[in-house]
Amino acid sequence: MITIISGTNRPNSKTKIIAKYLFTQIANTGNLVKMLDLVDLNVDLLHHEMYTPSGQHPLISSLQEDMIDPANVLIIISPEYNGSFPGILKLFIDAVSAKAYKTTFGGKKAALIGVASGRAGNFRGLEHLTGILNYLNITVMPNKLPVSSVSNYIKDNQVSEELSVTLDAFVDEVLAFINVEQQV
Ligand SMILES: Cc1cc2nc3c(=O)[nH]c(=O)nc-3n(C[C@H](O)[C@H](O)[C@H](O)COP(=O)(O)O)c2cc1C
Repeated sequence: MITIISGTNRPNSKTKIIAKYLFTQIANTGNLVKMLDLVDLNVDLLHHEMYTPSGQHPLISSLQEDMIDPANVLIIISPEYNGSFPGILKLFIDAVSAKAYKTTFGGKKAALIGVASGRAGNFRGLEHLTGILNYLNITVMPNKLPVSSVSNYIKDNQVSEELSVTLDAFVDEVLAFINVEQQV
């Protein structure tokens, strides 16, 4: 199973538009795919008990069980916030890792896309994220896709033709990387 993570809780994010496009394209290949949108983390995650399994927020537990545990591949779309990936994404990883982090993350594969209004396409943040995912024993696809000047490639909440071609090629590369033909 593939889980796509839209890596921000900012409402109406461009990241989510790209994540939804990828979801549709991958679903059309016949692979089992789910989408985890961090905008749904609209709950109080910041409390002292969050680092213990019993103190894990029920929403985090259910997302972990439905979206992370059964996935063997994570596709993470991350916007650039202050030169890196958003804090909510790290908070989510930390909150999930409070319970069985080795089995939750270890041995999975990941592919990364950066999204930025600026010119760097969050490439720096994708490198930061790669270091963390490698620490968690996740193999990250070497070719990461930085989407720079994103406003030029999203109009009326749709990805442009030009960006769709790039994203479609990325999906092909991900499917080859995870070595799937039919069902993941
Ligand atoms: C808190 C915050 C920090 C940001 N920092 C950067 C940045 O460092 N570099 C950049 O190119 N864009 C930055 N942006 C703009 C985002 O790249 C832009 O909003 C883009 O659309 C991707 O984010 P989105 O998915 O939230 O729409 C920032 C946006 C926010 C909300």
